Amino acid sequence: MSFFPIRQVKARVTGNHQVAEATFRLVLSAKEFPAAAQPGQFIMLRTSTTEDPLLRRAFSLHDRKDDHLGILYKVVGRGTDWMARRRPGDVIDLIGPLGRGFSSAPPLRKALLVAGGMGIAPFRLLVRSLQSEGVEILLFYGARTAGDLLELEEMEAASVSLLLATEDGSRGEKGRVTELFREHFRKVEPSASFKIFACGPQAMLYEVARIALGQEIACDVSLESQMACGLGTCMGCVIATGSGYQRVCREGPVFSAQSLLLDESAVKHE
Ligand SMILES: Cc1cc2nc3c(=O)[nH]c(=O)nc-3n(C[C@H](O)[C@H](O)[C@H](O)COP(=O)(O)OP(=O)(O)OC[C@H]3O[C@@H](n4cnc5c(N)ncnc54)[C@H](O)[C@@H]3O)c2cc1C
Ligand code: FES
Repeated sequence: MSFFPIRQVKARVTGNHQVAEATFRLVLSAKEFPAAAQPGQFIMLRTSTTEDPLLRRAFSLHDRKDDHLGILYKVVGRGTDWMARRRPGDVIDLIGPLGRGFSSAPPLRKALLVAGGMGIAPFRLLVRSLQSEGVEILLFYGARTAGDLLELEEMEAASVSLLLATEDGSRGEKGRVTELFREHFRKVEPSASFKIFACGPQAMLYEVARIALGQEIACDVSLESQMACGLGTCMGCVIATGSGYQRVCREGPVFSAQSLLLDESAVKHE
């Protein structure tokens, strides 16, 4: 749950650049947006100036610097297509920060990050936050093909160690990031100072959560769910957890691996 104030903000577009096929980085000037947002939290963005589409769309906070917010997004439908057509000076209405983000307590020494596809989006802020606490970071990152691997320069510039996988073998190891993770995963630190953070497709997250639980390592996974309100009222985003149904938009999107039900019936395969 968010302990930060939630604001509705009219943000002004300052940049909207294509960074890969059908993938854009939107930069918004949003002075009133709370500075204390956590990595892993998200915003609900209005993707229209009319009533259609009516529902806001959810996006991870990708960057937060000075008065600016960044969103890394892929065009998959009407809302994201509208976003891709925004130009500097346009105004976008958003609500946030929402949900519960990643937790780096207790103090960590090493972090393993696992990202699949667009799951890299919240990791820029997470890397910045972990590095400010002196945490060493290794990122396992997988995508369908080389062109879908995003943020590599930024991660290298931040001295994050990278292990890459692509399903077609065009960059890094051929196969899924979960195979790469299983192959290279080592418990390198006492459990208390070592943690896994994962974001990507649900089947990948549940696989990473199973590996983490098997090794008794703390692990946070950031889930996605179709969201109507994003504010905890419609109950449209619930998932089954060990303590009953929980709302991805309020109790999540970040859940501890321990809290999830990890049997096959709970997993959505994309
Ligand atoms: C907490 C959270 C954080 C997210 N962060 C990002 C991000 O940083 N970058 C990004 O590109 N996307 C992110 N998403 C997904 C994003 O919300 C959807 O891609 C977006 O809502 C699609 O809107 P649309 O109108 O373009 O597509 P629509 O026309 O609504 O749908 C197009 C297709 O996408 C599918 N779809 C729509 N929403 C989702 C969803 N939430 N999960 C899975 N499939 C969906 C639909 O079933 C349909 O097949 C996030 C979602 C959540 C819940
Ligand atoms: S999206 Fe409405 S309760 Fe989560």
